[in-house]
Amino acid sequence: MVSVSRRGPPDTYRPASRESASRRADADGPGKEREGGCHVAHAESDSEPTRRDFLYIATAAAGAVGVGAAVWPAIDQMNPSADVLALASIDVDISALEEGSQLTVKWRGKPVFIRHRTAEEIEAAREVPMADLKDPIARNDNLPGDAPATDADRALDEEGKYLVMLGVCTHLGCVPLGDGAGDFGGWFCPCHGSHYDTAGRIRRGPAPENLPVPVAALVDGVVTLG
Ligand code: FES
Repeated sequence: MVSVSRRGPPDTYRPASRESASRRADADGPGKEREGGCHVAHAESDSEPTRRDFLYIATAAAGAVGVGAAVWPAIDQMNPSADVLALASIDVDISALEEGSQLTVKWRGKPVFIRHRTAEEIEAAREVPMADLKDPIARNDNLPGDAPATDADRALDEEGKYLVMLGVCTHLGCVPLGDGAGDFGGWFCPCHGSHYDTAGRIRRGPAPENLPVPVAALVDGVVTLG
């Protein structure tokens, strides 16, 4: 069973949804279209209403819940203030996250993708020549700022099974689609057509950088963010 627990205040936990398309994770209002003609809905900020195409799963109150097991539309009312939220760390039990699956947790007001990659996804990412990368920097907060964007420097664990990234397109902040989306089998942002590979690296489209990897650790099947 996948579960999320919080060492700070309670927060929401939202499995990824293809229908959710691109949702922006910054502070603009819900559904506010961005300049440049993006007509895809954006993510709401913490204080904004929930969207019907996400499942909201309580974490602190329930202790442990299954992916998609419950809908908690009222959870948004429990959102803490932004300053409190900024301090929060969360633990996500991914011991039941199956290979080839992805979940999305909300952390510090932004979606975080946690993917259990298949052997094929890992292999595809590791075969990419560095010269083919649009952004050669790992963008991994766990590593020095100049670490190269090798797959090993993007993945959470040595085997490369787990990938943890902010689900925020580096172009204008939409939330990319996952589960093998796009021309490189990773993630795709339909706002303006950015394609990310199976390591979350930008490969085509206007996004300038790889999807950011936040400070994270994996211990005994639990991912700690922050
Ligand atoms: Fe423009 Fe993602 S926000 S491509």
